[in-house]
Amino acid sequence: MLQVYLKNIKLKTPLMTASGTSGHGNELEVLENSPTILSALGAFVTKGVTLRAKEGNSEFRIVETDSGLLNSIGLQNEGAEFFMKNELPGLRSFGLPVIVNISADSIEEFGKLASYLSDNDSDQIISAIEINVSCPNIEKGGIAFGTDPIQVEKIVNKVKNSIDDRISIITKLTPNVTDITIPARAAINGGTDALAMINTLRGTAIDIYTCKPMLGNKTGGLSGPAIKPIGLYMIYECFEKIPECNSRQVPLIGLGGISRWQDVVEYIMAGATAVGIGTACLVNPDLFPNIYSGLKEFIEKKGCAISELTGIAHSP
Ligand SMILES: Cc1cc2nc3c(=O)[nH]c(=O)nc-3n(C[C@H](O)[C@H](O)[C@H](O)COP(=O)(O)O)c2cc1C
Repeated sequence: MLQVYLKNIKLKTPLMTASGTSGHGNELEVLENSPTILSALGAFVTKGVTLRAKEGNSEFRIVETDSGLLNSIGLQNEGAEFFMKNELPGLRSFGLPVIVNISADSIEEFGKLASYLSDNDSDQIISAIEINVSCPNIEKGGIAFGTDPIQVEKIVNKVKNSIDDRISIITKLTPNVTDITIPARAAINGGTDALAMINTLRGTAIDIYTCKPMLGNKTGGLSGPAIKPIGLYMIYECFEKIPECNSRQVPLIGLGGISRWQDVVEYIMAGATAVGIGTACLVNPDLFPNIYSGLKEFIEKKGCAISELTGIAHSP
């Protein structure tokens, strides 16, 4: 039994795409033409959508590291109107709950974007909005919203008051903080339905021949196997220390460095209900069916439902 629930959203498996690593769907012929990938997935999470189109950062935008990937894409996308008209309708054919990841430069803009998506989703395709609080707040000098709990609470509350009740809210936290339970608590106070963690960790790489940073943006976000212990630790901390997470009233979605079914089991045992997989899929898009089979076999041998394993690592 691999079925799990993120509040009222039923996922047939706990496996989800990670925002930014599977596009907005319509460029994803791999997914469209692969029933095995679609049947392994529990939900589709889109790349970040912003109110207006964004060109993204200058090149280079991706640098490989020893055990991960640095990216500074800069949220390139065609904007909310284009997404709603040209991309969202195609996602319906996946037959999966659709989670739309959103970013903005100010709290007001988060509200406008969320209400635009909610008001224009006449076919009710969107199951949840995932708020990316790792983006910079231009009104506060470009510091990421997610590092300031007051801002996190305000954004979540703004989004909550801007959308239809049927759409759930997931808040995606940045790991670039000292204590992850502080922004997690703020998001819960703001009314989030679930928490996703982690986004990428800030990092850089230097080209020793040009003597300059390799990324056009100078710094970027680190993802992939290198960050798994950090993501796992942050899920563990939230499950351990936040009663609403421990009781699963606010379910946790684990991300960071997952590339094998065993990684998924670790995240679930640490406290996650579902997981997102990003960088590893860029290397191997067929990863989802492989992870699904390993997970299914493990659960069958254990003779339990996967949901029974959530947080089991905390048992005395
Ligand atoms: C190329 C790339 C683009 C990303 N774009 C977004 C994005 O638009 N919104 C977001 O919330 N996270 C974004 N992320 C972060 C991922 O969703 C995920 O949280 C992170 O990469 C950790 O998971 P992983 O190690 O499995 O990749 C991006 C990551 C990568 C590698």
